Amino acid sequence: MKLLEPIKVGDMQLHNRMAMAPMTRSRAIGNVPNALIAEYYKQRSSAGLIITEGTSPSPNGLGYARIPGIYSKEQIAGWKLVTDAVHENNGHIFLQIMHTGRIAATQNLPQGGIVLAPSAIAAAGQMWTDSVQMVPNATPKEMTIDEIKSTIEEYKQAAINAIEAGFDGVELHSASGYLPNQFLSTSANQRTDEYGGSIENRSRFIIEVLAAMSKAIGSHKVGIKLSPGMVFNDIEIDDATQLFPYLLQQLNGLDLAYVHVMRIPNWEVTPNSFEVVKTFRETYKGTLLVGCAFDRESGEQLLQDNQADMMVYGSLFLSNPDLPARFEKEAVLNAPDQATFYTPGAIGYTDYPSL
Ligand SMILES: Cc1cc2nc3c(=O)[nH]c(=O)nc-3n(C[C@H](O)[C@H](O)[C@H](O)COP(=O)(O)O)c2cc1C
Repeated sequence: MKLLEPIKVGDMQLHNRMAMAPMTRSRAIGNVPNALIAEYYKQRSSAGLIITEGTSPSPNGLGYARIPGIYSKEQIAGWKLVTDAVHENNGHIFLQIMHTGRIAATQNLPQGGIVLAPSAIAAAGQMWTDSVQMVPNATPKEMTIDEIKSTIEEYKQAAINAIEAGFDGVELHSASGYLPNQFLSTSANQRTDEYGGSIENRSRFIIEVLAAMSKAIGSHKVGIKLSPGMVFNDIEIDDATQLFPYLLQQLNGLDLAYVHVMRIPNWEVTPNSFEVVKTFRETYKGTLLVGCAFDRESGEQLLQDNQADMMVYGSLFLSNPDLPARFEKEAVLNAPDQATFYTPGAIGYTDYPSL
């Protein structure tokens, strides 16, 4: 089975072609990773590559409750527990760097944190807070050029911190409506300067962040996640069929570890998204990771058809810590329990059984 064959990604020799998808689990009390989180990832270290939950490069990027950061000494030390645990089991692990931008409640930000976005337009939808429960997403402050530059610096420092914490690399979260995706958007981004308007301008933020991170830690240690056509978190990209090919051409020149794309089932997205993802394989010359709603058979099929180099599994890894072994044996799978996806504590987190 191709899913269980080794593969070289960046400078890593991975045991198999099954990546664990980045998944926010909201167990980082005080935004600091802990021993429970280390246990969770250790249990899943038979994945060819673990991509961690979204982790903020800045106090400004902590839009959700109890998500971790990677900007303080304490957070770096917390993450070290995780990388040590995974490496003890010969696993590989990338840190997903996620700045939530306008998908945020001010109540979730630490003191001094500011909700920032390309334009001062609130996203439709609500956000959970532990203090007052659901609130509408905050109206963000439009970023000044200085704030754009300092945010890029935060991403760069986050990448450096990730390496200090023992990660094998980082993934820039540019999907699902968070800050980089807000820059790509024709709805969230109404800027008239060099970061808004044309496809080239809307792509600029992502290219600059990737370049800064690559310069700091090496491009082979940097990946990116994209979600063409995703409307989640109030994102529209009217010209997706032109924007993504342009962006991928730019990524070709950066020599990254990988591009990770969500191939969202057609019924959940704008009609052209499936078509856009099909063009990724031809346009992007490097390693391509594909995920979203795949199982053993459909993932294996995509690899056999040479439409991806590696498959990404989310909820199946969440509920099956030993997913590669289960795929190998065609074993029964544990079902994920949505009720405990984001609740604090071990229940629905580290208590899913292995075979
Ligand atoms: C509980 C949960 C949390 C998630 N959090 C993140 C996240 O922090 N970053 C991200 O890029 N995607 C996140 N996702 C999306 C997954 O990475 C993945 O793309 C999605 O679940 C589809 O894959 P699947 O059908 O195999 O689960 C999350 C998904 C789930 C189920």
